[in-house]
Parts: sequence; C-alpha cells; structure tokens
Amino acid sequence: MNRLSTRRMTLGANDYAVGAAHTFDVRGLEPEDKPWVQHILRQYWGSTTQVSMGKLYQADELPGLVAVRDGQSVGLLTYHIDGTACEIITHNSMAGHGGIGSCLLNAIRDKARELGCERLWLITTNDNTPAIRFYQRRNFDMIALHRDAVTEARHLKSEIPNIGFDGIPIRHEIEMQYNA
Ligand SMILES: CC(C)(COP(=O)(O)OP(=O)(O)OC[C@H]1O[C@@H](n2cnc3c(N)ncnc32)[C@H](O)[C@@H]1OP(=O)(O)O)[C@@H](O)C(=O)NCCC(=O)NCCS
Repeated sequence: MNRLSTRRMTLGANDYAVGAAHTFDVRGLEPEDKPWVQHILRQYWGSTTQVSMGKLYQADELPGLVAVRDGQSVGLLTYHIDGTACEIITHNSMAGHGGIGSCLLNAIRDKARELGCERLWLITTNDNTPAIRFYQRRNFDMIALHRDAVTEARHLKSEIPNIGFDGIPIRHEIEMQYNA
C-alpha cells in the first residue's frame, strides 16, 4: 500500500454528482495494477508515453490514483511531482458522467495538499472542449497557451492523432491551473 491509503468517497450534489449519489473507493496505484494501467493508457492515449510541454513521461511508471466501484477499476489518474508542483499527466474515466472524474480530481487535490504542493496543474489540448469545460467548472483556469506544442510533441510521440474531438486539428497545448 503506498502513502495514500484507501479512502471512500460518497459523492453528493456538492461534489458534482447529479442524480443518485455514487460511492467510489480511491486508492494509490500498486505495482500489481501496472498491466491494467498499461492497458488503459494504450487504449485511451495510444501508448504508455505522454508528452507535456516538450517533456516525455513514461506514464505507467508514474504514481497514480485509481477509482474503484463494486470491485471494478473505473478511473485512472497519473501525476508527476516536481518540487512543489503537481502535474496531472493523465486523467481518465472509464464510464463518463458518473462522477468518477470529479472523484479523482478531489482525491488528487487532497494528495497534492498532503505532499505540500503549491501548484496543481495540467495540460489539455485545443480540441478537447469537454475537458476544458470540465476543468473550468472545477476551478481550473487557463494560464497559458502553448501554440503548436502538440505539433512538436509528435516528434516525441508519433501516435498523437492529427484530428481530435469534433474533427478539430490537434495543435496547441493549454496549461490549466487549479485555483484553491
Ligand atoms: C475529463 C474526464 C476525466 C471527466 O470524467 P467524468 O467521469 O466524465 O467526470 P464526472 O462524471 O465527474 O463529471 C462529468 C459531468 O457529469 C456529471 N455527472 C456526474 N455524475 C452524474 C450522474 N450520476 N448522472 C448524470 N451526470 C452526472 C457531472 O456533474 C459533470 O457535469 P458538469 O461538468 O456539468 O458538472 C472524462 O471526460 C475523460 O475521461 N475524458 C477523456 C480523457 C481526457 O480528456 N482527460 C483530460 C485530460 S488529461
């Protein structure tokens, strides 16, 4: 068991869950989760590597959080700590609009605080309007636009598709930061 012990989160209206409340366990990733993590990263991100602001991350080797519901792993968040900054590298819900994404976001906020981080941030891409909406509604603000950063990132990760959500060309990185 890593430093973040299992915690049970019951989501209510104030935690963004709409309709019936759902209960998830959120725990830190364990070594035995690695095959599942690799499977999820390949499924959702094309490979186990991730590029953010020109840096290549081996995301399956990062610390992370997993949301578990009824014994099933239903959400994954990986992160990287650099000094007092915590960057969310990947964030996936395996069943959208059920509160999983919010639950993981609450957990990483707690974790970052526990680790003494002063900054919680992430990169999303210009096409990903659902994520841009999701994070802005949860107190993340856009703090920088890195023009053509994805075009550059393709030199490090050739699997990044050219076209993303709604047929939008994927070109830029948007840096978003949590305002406590
Ligand atoms: C971004 C992402 C992680 C969000 O996860 P999610 O599980 O859909 O998030 P939630 O369910 O907590 O919230 C999504 C919406 O569903 C709503 N919702 C939550 N529980 C619900 C329920 N039981 N019934 C109906 N709606 C519900 C939330 O209120 C929220 O809507 P809002 O923003 O209008 O408040 C997910 O969309 C995802 O995996 N995206 C693809 C990967 C990605 O782009 N990641 C981000 C960059 S790393």
